[in-house]
Amino acid sequence: MSAGAAGLFLAFEGPEGSGKSSQVTRLAERLRSEGLDPLVTREPGGSPAGERIRDVLLDPVLRLDPLAELLLYAAARSQHVVERIAPALAAGALVLTDRFSAATVAYQGHGRALDLSFVHELNTRVTLGHRPHLTLLLDIAPEVGLARVAARGAADRLERADLAFHRRVRAGFLAQADSDGERWRVIDADDDEERVAAAVWAAVEPVLHAWRQAARR
Ligand code: TMP
Repeated sequence: MSAGAAGLFLAFEGPEGSGKSSQVTRLAERLRSEGLDPLVTREPGGSPAGERIRDVLLDPVLRLDPLAELLLYAAARSQHVVERIAPALAAGALVLTDRFSAATVAYQGHGRALDLSFVHELNTRVTLGHRPHLTLLLDIAPEVGLARVAARGAADRLERADLAFHRRVRAGFLAQADSDGERWRVIDADDDEERVAAAVWAAVEPVLHAWRQAARR
């Protein structure tokens, strides 16, 4: 379906406090109940080296230059793709990731105001051309999302960035969804968890069905 892969690649994205992690868990359970065995993974992370890079990226004590930050996210993604995503897709697996390359466009491109064409170029290199077939954007106003994060406890390095940054991030996600409507679904995440899960499933089901049909041919 993409980049010559036989697998199906799904991604969740969203601003802080969008409830993404719970929805990833719920969707994974739903997929298992359909008899599927998804590879559930995340970024930054998803590989042993990537998880260590994640610790650096999220550590509130560290100060990172925006370019250094971008390169660390790219390094983690490069390892993740080579070690896990590309082999799984080549083997025909269903891959479900909590964030992927669109997060770099939103956070480092729009949020940190780094050169968008450089961010895209870097993404193309480190993803080996793999793009999610479907990206579920759990959209939420930063004020609401950040209040949820604050209620959870200590904030990480990115969560501590100012409101203007988080507004640019949200706009960066919405702009990507707008320009690639076929591969993106925007879901209102300022809603009850059950209703968000139902909206996620309504978006995933037809894509899953088409993929299964194609695999039978
Ligand atoms: P999480 O909140 O989904 O666990 O993601 C960790 C943080 O990293 C979150 O604040 C978003 C941020 N992030 C980026 O800034 N750029 C990226 O490329 C990725 C994958 C995440």
